[in-house]
Amino acid sequence: MTMTWEWRGTVRNEEINELHAEGFDHVPAADDWTERLSRLSLGWVTARDDEGLVGFVNVIWDGHVHAFIEDTLVAHRARRQGIGKRLVAVAEEQSRAAGCEWLHVDFDDHLKSFYFDACGFRPTSAGLMQLR
Ligand SMILES: CC(C)(COP(=O)(O)OP(=O)(O)OC[C@H]1O[C@@H](n2cnc3c(N)ncnc32)[C@H](O)[C@@H]1OP(=O)(O)O)[C@@H](O)C(=O)NCCC(=O)NCCS
Repeated sequence: MTMTWEWRGTVRNEEINELHAEGFDHVPAADDWTERLSRLSLGWVTARDDEGLVGFVNVIWDGHVHAFIEDTLVAHRARRQGIGKRLVAVAEEQSRAAGCEWLHVDFDDHLKSFYFDACGFRPTSAGLMQLR
């Protein structure tokens, strides 16, 4: 099966909403991703196979040297084939090429092996505050 990888590639709201709902186990929303991505993101990575979008990751940033990984998503049907790892690798390459010095991510404990061992992040102290 052919896989296509793109940085800042064209993506439809419906396909990200569907992948997001599958990945985070909720009812599909009607979010305007394309508007949000174009306005707030350094970029985003998409992975497509013959059936459509199977992988997505959003890279937001501070406009300077910090980039942040958000919403790393791989469709159930395509998991554990290295797609998530490659999505993050492309995000890393492109963030570096854009002049960023740091790539941040936060995640639940069960994904330590994915982000630390597979993707190459190192542990650090970080903080998080729930606002609502
Ligand atoms: C997390 C996610 C993106 C991983 O995508 P993936 O394409 O399946 O990951 P990869 O195939 O690149 O995994 C590489 C390695 O990371 C580790 N890994 C991947 N998923 C893992 C999981 N769910 N639990 C523990 N380790 C995992 C494994 O070591 C894996 O190698 P292996 O398959 O040889 O054992 C995918 O499971 C997903 O979309 N999850 C739901 C949404 C989510 O929680 N996203 C993260 C938000 S922070």
